[in-house]
Amino acid sequence: MAAIKTGLIGFGRMGNFYLEEMRKSGKFEVVYICDVNEEACELARRVAPEAKVVSDEQIIFDDPEVQVVGLFALADSRREQIERAFAAGKHVIAEKPIADSMENEWKAVELAESTPLLSTVNLYLRNSWYHKTIKDFIAQGEIGELAIVRVCHMTPGLAPGEGHEYEGPAFHDCGMHYVDIARWYACSEFKTWHAQAVRMWNYKDPWWLQCHGTFENGVVFDITQGHVYGQLAQTQTHNSYVDIIGTQGIARMTHDFKTAVVELHGVTQTHRLIQPYGGKNIDVLCRRFARSLESGERCRELPSFRDAAIASEYAWRFLEDARRNDLPSIGNLGELEAIRERRRTMKNGYGLLHQRHV
Ligand SMILES: NC(=O)c1ccc[n+]([C@@H]2O[C@H](COP(=O)([O-])OP(=O)(O)OC[C@H]3O[C@@H](n4cnc5c(N)ncnc54)[C@H](O)[C@@H]3O)[C@@H](O)[C@H]2O)c1
Repeated sequence: MAAIKTGLIGFGRMGNFYLEEMRKSGKFEVVYICDVNEEACELARRVAPEAKVVSDEQIIFDDPEVQVVGLFALADSRREQIERAFAAGKHVIAEKPIADSMENEWKAVELAESTPLLSTVNLYLRNSWYHKTIKDFIAQGEIGELAIVRVCHMTPGLAPGEGHEYEGPAFHDCGMHYVDIARWYACSEFKTWHAQAVRMWNYKDPWWLQCHGTFENGVVFDITQGHVYGQLAQTQTHNSYVDIIGTQGIARMTHDFKTAVVELHGVTQTHRLIQPYGGKNIDVLCRRFARSLESGERCRELPSFRDAAIASEYAWRFLEDARRNDLPSIGNLGELEAIRERRRTMKNGYGLLHQRHV
């Protein structure tokens, strides 16, 4: 099949990742790159001389040759771009969240569900080898009946006020991935919850949150997420895992962002698997999207706009619940300023904002 002609909108950190993976895949041909920032456009011209670089996205929508658009700008422009893309007959790969408010996110879901055009969203954990391995192990009955889903992701990552302002506090911007993966494991909808958070460094929004609760099918969960993990430590580290507990066995995973380790303790099998972490798994997403277009049948592992809207909605609900549960403040804004200052000058750190090297 001929390469899928694609236009990328938003050429920041994620846009650059997609360009690289789409090229490697051999399945996509990036024919346009659009960004509203001149430096981003200059970078695009340098690294992708084969693509037309534009600052008006409508040029991409109006080109009948373009089959797929990748929406990798920020959430505030996404809903409108989704609407224009479908109206122009384009398939859509979107970053999360799919819009900047729940109303707009549900509008985007409605649009996606009323067109035969293909769409997906980068809920990247669903494309990871480690979660797939664990889910397959559960499906084999090795842990008995799934009972408890525990998810934790704490890093000294994106600090309050640094960027992604349209994507909400850490538990929404990053935490929605963990809300989504808990629901994906449970294969059920959220039923009850109780959230506790803290306004670290006296920032207006919580930057760490823990929520526990139940799903409709009785599976219980706890999710802990925070970008508050030792930002000023001499040597930074993180703590990220899933811990899946059944009535008879367990499965768990941890990673150091380079390598992921999956430990499976089932009733008949015990495994310890060590493989490359895989980053944002954009290669897997692109492969599944291309396969769906080629076969005309949606790959069932592709996350849908509905999945993204649900994850976003529950991340907001858990944040709202945390506001009702005391929400103490610890630390001071001076510490936050020191963190931002350190991150501004760091060369190698967690979730540093994209530096353009034109
Ligand atoms: N799925 C994930 O794991 C994951 C990880 C990181 C970021 N993201 C999401 O990806 C999106 C992009 O994040 P990023 O880290 O690449 O941000 P970024 O700031 O590095 O890049 C965004 C780019 O979009 C451009 N832009 C803004 N508005 C635009 C518009 N209307 N038209 C065209 N270009 C526009 C900006 O100039 C910038 O170059 C965000 O929504 C973020 O939440 C998802």
